[in-house]
Amino acid sequence: MTTTDLVFQSYGRCCARDGFFEDFYRFFMASADEIRARFQDTDMAAQRHLLRNGIMQLILHARGMPDRKLRALGESHSRGKYNIPPQWYGLWLDALIITVKAHDPEYDAALGEAWREVLTPGIDLIRGAY
Ligand code: HEM
Repeated sequence: MTTTDLVFQSYGRCCARDGFFEDFYRFFMASADEIRARFQDTDMAAQRHLLRNGIMQLILHARGMPDRKLRALGESHSRGKYNIPPQWYGLWLDALIITVKAHDPEYDAALGEAWREVLTPGIDLIRGAY
């Protein structure tokens, strides 16, 4: 099985668990007050739903899918719109790995590294559009 397949299956187990996306935003917002502040007026139920698809897009990018949707995310997160500083993406990924660790019963350090490896090119694309 490829690294991308391992992550794809891990994501399937995570999505099947109650509270995965709630926990992600709890961890992510706990990483900085400035990050929490960005979601003050956000409909978090809708946001959790959007993120579910966003993470899928990152995995599909690693599988070689066209990156039209990631480019759109790069644009929405860039300085002209949400203005998300590039250094926050490391906190985003750390929060995601902690959440995977908490929810995927098959998590181990190697799987955590696989997640980082698979998601990083797609994250770089979004961050690079800043
Ligand atoms: C690669 C990592 C990320 C992914 C996949 C992602 C995904 C998404 C998606 C799918 C949306 C909704 C679609 C849109 O508005 O374009 C969104 C909105 C948003 N994201 Fe991200 N995001 C990421 C990183 C971040 C980071 C680091 C922050 C920092 C705080 C952030 C803050 C926001 C905000 C403020 C919104 C708008 C919320 C609202 O509508 O009120 N995102 N993100």
